[in-house]
Amino acid sequence: MRKVVLKDYEEMCKYASNIVEQQIKSNPKSVLGLPTGSTPIGMYRDLIRKNLDFSGVTTFNLDEYYGLPKSNDQSYDYFMRSMFFNYINIDKNNINIPNGEAPDAAEECARYDAAIIAAGGIDLQVLGVGVNGHIGFNEPADALSPTTNLVKLTPSTIEVNSRFFDKAEDVPKTAITMGMGNILQAKKIIILVNGKSKTDILKRTFSEGVTTQNPSSFLLLHPDVTYIVDEEANGA
Ligand code: GLP
Repeated sequence: MRKVVLKDYEEMCKYASNIVEQQIKSNPKSVLGLPTGSTPIGMYRDLIRKNLDFSGVTTFNLDEYYGLPKSNDQSYDYFMRSMFFNYINIDKNNINIPNGEAPDAAEECARYDAAIIAAGGIDLQVLGVGVNGHIGFNEPADALSPTTNLVKLTPSTIEVNSRFFDKAEDVPKTAITMGMGNILQAKKIIILVNGKSKTDILKRTFSEGVTTQNPSSFLLLHPDVTYIVDEEANGA
């Protein structure tokens, strides 16, 4: 595990975007695991600015709200198109996002797992973290799923994510997310953590050890994970 502490959000985003750049330059057919949320927006902007060649790259998004149409501006499908995919030369056939409109969630989860395997697994997984330690939408619980699964969002996540919706009642109650096993099988992981709201979970991760009550703590078991942290989140 490496922890890189940088001055601010902008520095963090540049650092992360350089890692993605190196990855796709060293292997133009890289498979990337990608997050949503406010954290990676700056990294996506920096990657767009670099005007890189994504034509051979395949992507797998971590998660998607279940039951929210792709056309809804809060769906992660919409987010990825409007924040990133519309501005790079990725082949649309190489974009994978769990289908929140699938009638059978279990079938969709199995399809997603199979697609990750068929692509040869994830080379570089980029992550953010929820204030409660969730990764993707793997929420703190007594047990965590190794594979892609349908999760019930916790009241705290619904409240935190309600900032993006008109009201808390509009936030979907369930989501499809890659499991912790899918994530930990990535060859390399970077996790971006910024701002005061993440100081507590970061402290807990490094002091409490590995626990399902903090899914992000499982990353400490990975052989090639880099925490990219700003001074605020680090508690400076
Ligand atoms: C969201 C996503 C996560 C993301 C997290 C943090 O709900 N499901 O993948 O990492 O919450 O969001 P933010 O970056 O806005 O703090």
